[in-house]
Amino acid sequence: MIILINILIIFGGKSSEYEVSLRSAASVINNIERDKYNVYTLGITKDGKWLYYEGDTDLIEKDEWSAGGFTSDAFLSVNASDNSLNIFENSIIKKVHIDVIFPVLHGKNGEDGTIQGLLELSGIPYVGCGVLSSAACMDKAVTNTLCDSIKIRQANWRLVKKYDFNHNRIDLEEIIDALSLPLFVKPANAGSSVGISKANTKEEVINALTLAFMHDSKAVLESAIVGRELECSVMGNDCPLASCVGEIAPCNEFYDYDAKYIDENSKLFIPAPLTEKQSDEIKSNAILVYKMLDCRGLARVDFFMDNDGLIYFNEINTIPGFTSISMYPKLFLQSGVPYPQLIEKLIEYAFEKE
Ligand SMILES: Nc1ncnc2c1ncn2[C@@H]1O[C@H](COP(=O)(O)OP(=O)(O)O)[C@@H](O)[C@H]1O
Ligand SMILES: [Mg+2]
Repeated sequence: MIILINILIIFGGKSSEYEVSLRSAASVINNIERDKYNVYTLGITKDGKWLYYEGDTDLIEKDEWSAGGFTSDAFLSVNASDNSLNIFENSIIKKVHIDVIFPVLHGKNGEDGTIQGLLELSGIPYVGCGVLSSAACMDKAVTNTLCDSIKIRQANWRLVKKYDFNHNRIDLEEIIDALSLPLFVKPANAGSSVGISKANTKEEVINALTLAFMHDSKAVLESAIVGRELECSVMGNDCPLASCVGEIAPCNEFYDYDAKYIDENSKLFIPAPLTEKQSDEIKSNAILVYKMLDCRGLARVDFFMDNDGLIYFNEINTIPGFTSISMYPKLFLQSGVPYPQLIEKLIEYAFEKE
């Protein structure tokens, strides 16, 4: 008799990337091997309510999952000896034993170490990076500082705090002089390009900072790199593997939210047309950053290449877009790992302990 593994897939979340998570999770649910796994699903609404979900996957994709009477209140126990999902059924708590959790959550509360802390307390193995690594990769100011410490090339950058901006405690002229216009202004913690602007003048920098501070109390200002956008998927724990390199040609001036998810004219090139030397440099930098940030399971590492062929690290995503047509799985597909096998591998890494 084959014993099935009970997996809990968590989707949604109190994040600007809620919709992206629904699509990623639906893909995972539709592609996971049912002869190995019993799949349980738990959705987190936009206002942070946890609901055990028993309906069809297409209602998740359509964001109609929480309205149809297929949900029950649920919570994960922080009692490490419990290893169960606790579901309220007519005021009685039903416990479902869970062997492994796949948090298919992007951005705030999903990819930033917060839920990873809860998963650690639950004692249940989970897919992806741990608390510190998730938090460090989510916060662009922290990631950039750590990348500077190992001398990975990246755009010149500065951190500006909301309090200092609001109380005129920054010398914006000096920052603009040091980085030179145009600049990219980003909330340190957001995702999917939310709150990010390209600023061409001092006035635009001020407007961009005001926008960024609607999403976070820290903003990162970066010199704009003119060139190409390249991405590399990495998986594994102590001996991570890099995929081939992919390229994005955004349909807008930069890869903003629309260009990522709405306008279908952005193009992906897989593999990216690069020399072997260029793609080897990107892959080895991807692994270097992944290891330095103590990643586990998976991450997508993003770069720019300027018109002189110099490669710059841009950012790392510890739970990258994960629909079957997203860059992360497509790069591994090109490298010989089909989507269902990729899910399988990531779950295996969750169980792996040194
Ligand atoms: N320093 C930069 N130079 C050129 N383009 C940039 C720079 N920083 C960001 N961008 C553009 O903005 C997009 C979103 O920025 P990114 O740092 O990747 O944020 P997010 O975490 O939201 O994806 C990038 O994909 C790129 O198109
Ligand atoms: Mg990005």
